[in-house]
Amino acid sequence: MAAFIERMGLLVLACVSLFVSSSVAVDRGNFKTCDQSAFCKRQRALKAGQSPYRALLDTLELSDSRVTLQLINDNNKVRLLLELYRLQGNMTRVKINELKPLKPRFEVPDVLVSDPPTEPLSLVSQDDNGVVLSLGAARQQRLIVSARPFRLDIVEGPEVLMSLNSRGLLAFEHLRLRKDTQANPEGAEAKENIDGAEEPAEVKDAADEGAKDEEIDGMWEETFKSHTDTKPNGPTSISLDFSLPGVEHVYGIPEHADNLKLKTTDGGDPYRLYNLDVFQYELYNPMALYGHVPVMLAHNAVRTMGLFWLNAAETWVDISSNTAGKTVFGKMLDYVQGASETPQTDVRWISESGIIDVFIMLGPTPFDVFSQYASLTGTQSFPPLSALAYHQCRWNYNDQEDVKAVDKGFDEHDIPYDFIWLDIEHTDGKRYFTWDPHKFPSPKEMLQGIMDKRRKMVAIVDPHIKVDSGYKIHNAIREQNFYIKNKDGGDYEGWCWPGSAGYPDFTKLEMRDWWASMFDYEHYEGAMENLYTWNDMNEPSVFNGPEVTMHKDAKHGDWEHRDFHNLYGFYVQMATADGLVRRSGGVERPFVLTRAFFAGSQRYGAVWTGDNAAEWDHLKISIPMCLSLGLVGISFCGADVGGFFKTPSTELLVRWYQTGAYQPFFRAHAHLDTPRREPWLFGPENTALIREAVRQRYTLLPYWYQQFYLAHTTGQPVMRPLWVEYPKDTATFNMDDQFLIGKDLLVHPVTEEGARGVTAYLPGHGEVWYDVHTFQKHNGAQSLYIPVTMSSIPVFQRGGSIIPRKLRVRRSSTCMEGDPYTLIVALNTQRTAEGELYMDDGHTFNFNTKKEFAHRSLTFANNVLSSRNLCSDCHFSTPSWIEKVVILGSSNPRQVSLKSDGKETALEFEFDPSVSVLTVRKPGVNAAADWMIQLL
Ligand code: GLC
Repeated sequence: MAAFIERMGLLVLACVSLFVSSSVAVDRGNFKTCDQSAFCKRQRALKAGQSPYRALLDTLELSDSRVTLQLINDNNKVRLLLELYRLQGNMTRVKINELKPLKPRFEVPDVLVSDPPTEPLSLVSQDDNGVVLSLGAARQQRLIVSARPFRLDIVEGPEVLMSLNSRGLLAFEHLRLRKDTQANPEGAEAKENIDGAEEPAEVKDAADEGAKDEEIDGMWEETFKSHTDTKPNGPTSISLDFSLPGVEHVYGIPEHADNLKLKTTDGGDPYRLYNLDVFQYELYNPMALYGHVPVMLAHNAVRTMGLFWLNAAETWVDISSNTAGKTVFGKMLDYVQGASETPQTDVRWISESGIIDVFIMLGPTPFDVFSQYASLTGTQSFPPLSALAYHQCRWNYNDQEDVKAVDKGFDEHDIPYDFIWLDIEHTDGKRYFTWDPHKFPSPKEMLQGIMDKRRKMVAIVDPHIKVDSGYKIHNAIREQNFYIKNKDGGDYEGWCWPGSAGYPDFTKLEMRDWWASMFDYEHYEGAMENLYTWNDMNEPSVFNGPEVTMHKDAKHGDWEHRDFHNLYGFYVQMATADGLVRRSGGVERPFVLTRAFFAGSQRYGAVWTGDNAAEWDHLKISIPMCLSLGLVGISFCGADVGGFFKTPSTELLVRWYQTGAYQPFFRAHAHLDTPRREPWLFGPENTALIREAVRQRYTLLPYWYQQFYLAHTTGQPVMRPLWVEYPKDTATFNMDDQFLIGKDLLVHPVTEEGARGVTAYLPGHGEVWYDVHTFQKHNGAQSLYIPVTMSSIPVFQRGGSIIPRKLRVRRSSTCMEGDPYTLIVALNTQRTAEGELYMDDGHTFNFNTKKEFAHRSLTFANNVLSSRNLCSDCHFSTPSWIEKVVILGSSNPRQVSLKSDGKETALEFEFDPSVSVLTVRKPGVNAAADWMIQLL
């Protein structure tokens, strides 16, 4: 009873705090610091330079593509097995596990798209001190294994690219028996004298060590607030350090509400990677948020590399640098330059369980790292085109009438939108896959109304399932034994929106299969093909759980939740996306938004940055948060436009629309308790400003779509930090207040209240940039003060690029399907430009399965603009034609003619000498055809 009262209290508290809009920030006391996380504290207490590990060189085994070697811990004599692989595409994989664990240790499944293909490794030399292996002659890369203490160096020619365990922080808490354990730990097989005479009886040692561990806090049990984590396996944490000589800039390891360039963590907490539902998160700190991708990029002016730490347990990352605080805009200050010290960044990864499995992506360019990482975990799913348009959401649209009225409001105010969203209140008592019978009595009628406007809807489906014997989803999960279990073997129950809830075990293939089938039209009553899905609370959020999440000792079959934690949200989105694909017989591309994510989540849809606030700083942080995600494969990212908590000022709302219009996932959302914010509620002037921002998004959809096609086929991020395109320009290395979309559009949002101007940096020596609103030309490699009004934010098109647009904005992107294109040709100083145009049906997999698409290369050179086919086996016919060509930086021709289909026609044109813009009217050629336009 006491427990029940406590739970109720917690639920009430959670609800009260959610419904009361207040200025209180995160309650830090709800979440652990490293010091409060026993394994992190233990690991961090280790001192550098005292590695107990030695490589046993006589155990070296070399097969064609794999080297194994034993490491011994001289303090406790426990042996580890080191495996080294050379992977295709300039990567190295390092795995370290216990040689003879008492039972298998967890290895992350389902994240890698396949077993990474290997390349041969060969032995260069070996002596008492170590081994030198060749990683292939082409790059003169070698892997040097030093024996005493164990250390790995990856070198290229004379240069050390990266060292592992150079600080001696490799630490591997081997499985052991608890002193008072009569029986073995679950599944453990007691072994005697594991490895012959030399090896001590590990079990005995392990038990002795267990005895010592009893005295150390948190090894076999840990209590945080009122929650006790029983640790049947005892201490299992792992850690390894990486040194990056010559590196001062590291990025990635999202999700943190922090700057793009990662900070050093000396004297503070490490960056934490543990998926959590953090209420009212604070900015500029390393606290964990909803999702995580354990990938870090290291960059300097000559090389980019990546580290992928494949571990889904709670993880902390420490960063230190010998130049911390001594750089300005990425440049070393003189007094440091004068010093003999080479800049170096040291990184240390610490995880609670599993094994060390790390992929070292050796670049050398940022784009090499993107394709290396994509080869491991896949690329961004290619969304339906409509999902790249504008989404209108709030918690909640109250009923069908409300939906109808909002839909109508958009038409009345001539603002396009593609998706209207329903939050948890649309369900019958928070029972997902159902509809509130009073507020949403006829969902199909509602969906049909939306469909008639060629628009779509998203309804939320969270993974916590109301424990209610009258709810068929719950009954089916319980009957099939699909719920996650608590440590005692019963179904795990926690509190979430519906009250008491079970959590389906998405780590099980059969469960995911069944879940996917729930999206079939015969199971999901009221659903139609224009209904898509939003997965929220999938960290998982458990209101009365430790740190608002699941107990680590909950069970997924034989594994603990501890091992799987950061993967839960990944699986929920995977199963949901699969459901949407399957309901269409494999034809339609899905759209699923998730809050929690992991490495590889890019394959399943979009993510958003969770419950932000209507504050200027939250608008500002949306830029680095999405940039970080893009760097590690997740391009389809956005932040709640307007801010979720609190009420934005009209100015902030307008600025947020203007920014969101240039970020990949563009959705307005608001807390249940905030006043309504549909775009027309702020007076005609502001309605006009928001309308303009949304319309700008729609005119650029062809470019967004092409960028997502590129992300899907190559793994390149859509929203990019400047340094990715200008890797040698140190001035860009710290920038996160502006960004690129693809390589050709540069956006500098306005994120200050009352701003009259912004200072934007236009990169590229010898490049030119054109203001997309005024067509004014600016030189690259300069910082420029740009005055702003409320009408728009600064956006520039790179000279040398061609961007396709559709200028006839209609109700929704689908309504614009067959509309004509306008090509914006921005000439560089050599008077050339190039771009692409990608077209397909916008929503099916036919682009892939039947090669039904058109991919055109557009080039301008020698006064000729031409369109030619980029793919040999694709075919696609479109009614879209080329309506207009606008050439920025042009001269005034005497004549303009079109050559197409063997015919030559003179075209009408206009030249504006004040900005050197040539507008060619109505070429009228089909957008999928070959043609040439010549300026004479
Ligand atoms: C969570 C989500 C938020 C949603 C709310 C109700 O707080 O992050 O977007 O509106 O739950 O479902």
